[in-house]
Amino acid sequence: MKQKKTDILIIGIGLAGMTAAITAAKSGKQITLITKTNSLQSGNTPWAQGGIVYKGLNDSPQKLKQDILNAGSGHCWEDAVDHLCEQGPNLVKKILIDSLNTKFDRFNNKLKRVAEGAHSDSRVIYNQDKTGLSIHRSALKYLQKLDNVEILTNHTAIDLLTFSHHSTASTDIYKKPACFGAMVLNNRNNVMPILSSKTILATGGLGQLFMHTTNPKEATGDGIAMAWRAGARCFNLHYIQFHPTALYHPSGRFLISEALRGEGGKLVNANSEEFMQNYHKLGDLAPRDVVSRAIHTEMIKNENDCMFLDISHRKSDWIQNRFPTIYEHCLLKGVDITKQPIPVVPAAHYSCGGVGVNLVGKTSLKRLYAVGEIACSGLHGANRLASTSLLECIVWGHYAGKDAIENKDDGDYFPPMDEWKQGKGQVDPSRIAQEWQTIKSTMWNLGGLIRSQEKLHSAMHILRNLQSDVEKFYQTSQLEKNIISLRNGAQTALAIIASSLEARESKGTHYVSDNQ
Ligand code: SIN
Repeated sequence: MKQKKTDILIIGIGLAGMTAAITAAKSGKQITLITKTNSLQSGNTPWAQGGIVYKGLNDSPQKLKQDILNAGSGHCWEDAVDHLCEQGPNLVKKILIDSLNTKFDRFNNKLKRVAEGAHSDSRVIYNQDKTGLSIHRSALKYLQKLDNVEILTNHTAIDLLTFSHHSTASTDIYKKPACFGAMVLNNRNNVMPILSSKTILATGGLGQLFMHTTNPKEATGDGIAMAWRAGARCFNLHYIQFHPTALYHPSGRFLISEALRGEGGKLVNANSEEFMQNYHKLGDLAPRDVVSRAIHTEMIKNENDCMFLDISHRKSDWIQNRFPTIYEHCLLKGVDITKQPIPVVPAAHYSCGGVGVNLVGKTSLKRLYAVGEIACSGLHGANRLASTSLLECIVWGHYAGKDAIENKDDGDYFPPMDEWKQGKGQVDPSRIAQEWQTIKSTMWNLGGLIRSQEKLHSAMHILRNLQSDVEKFYQTSQLEKNIISLRNGAQTALAIIASSLEARESKGTHYVSDNQ
């Protein structure tokens, strides 16, 4: 079987994976990044509108820490919070501002800052409403100049390679579980192993498991499914954050950044009445889980399909310059945000749980790291503070990249393997569409914003059967990208529901109406 070998394999090209590559590449080792997408603009990073936490003018690591702990509903891992608060701003300066030259908005050459929900200071820096895109482009540009870094598009990871699952040396089962790369479907529909001393999972989010999401179509929970099958520990999977404000439009949801509320936007009902002060003392800038549930409650109470976000009191030129992406997208959909309130509803946005990692991104499997949204560092607890996700990518990406080049971890053993066996069945696209419909509607209606024991049990029943059918379908079919994503989506959806049923209490984003 044809195979490829590299020092460090990074699966995913969002900010976390790219930051790991930037740091690891300094060692001169061979770094290979793969993405399943056709485009280099892949994952949630380019879609992040609001900004990245840096530091406010009167800020301190302690103030940021307190805000993260408050938003996380008492469930954050304090060591992870300290790590981010102490290292984060320095790494933003060193990596984004000084090395990558990322564009951020400035006034008189000083960085502009905005406050977002549950922040006690204006500490979020931004580039209009396309911060993620600016960061993504600058990181990609930097990496593309490095000789020891290759980026392969249209390369879909199928499974992580582990001693226990893939070695044909029977006594490898006694070794400490370890990962030695990934089985990958390449763009010519060939399957080949990419062997690596270290593997970094950076596959991003899972919003596409839900009917309505702010995430791009590639966000299908691939990393959690692969880690789960490989036996890496995953936790906090039930903490799914719903962004309170996605554009409500029949053509689909679109993120309306929290920065709009940071800049004075108000949530109102169909009668233009504000309502957030009835739910939290921080009003429109309450933590996201509170705002999402408040919108949901108001929609039910008033029998409305959506609520509204109004920024039209600000000057039209200012709005168009500060939020050009949102302005143009909404205008295309018939909403002029400079003149009228924006119809909004909550949508699945971010997974606070994932593959469990330590402060340098190491998972419970040797030679395997996880960074970014796929990982659970414990930083976000039960609900993530706005604009901390890109910062987490920088901090954990950097430390994982550093550890991967420094830590030997028996990274030079590559066991013998069997040939890949390919199924023969033709894939029927309508079958894939049908299974996705079931996953999305089950997760949205039974495992969404407001859960109940009964709904979760019902979801479990549906998804257990579905996952088992999909696994069989996968094994007997000729492999292609769509079936790999479906298999992962089914696995991750089931894992989220299992985790929700096991959770002992309603907390943060995991709200169970009959389990207070
Ligand atoms: C937003 O701009 O509201 C999304 C950014 C984030 O999720 O932190």
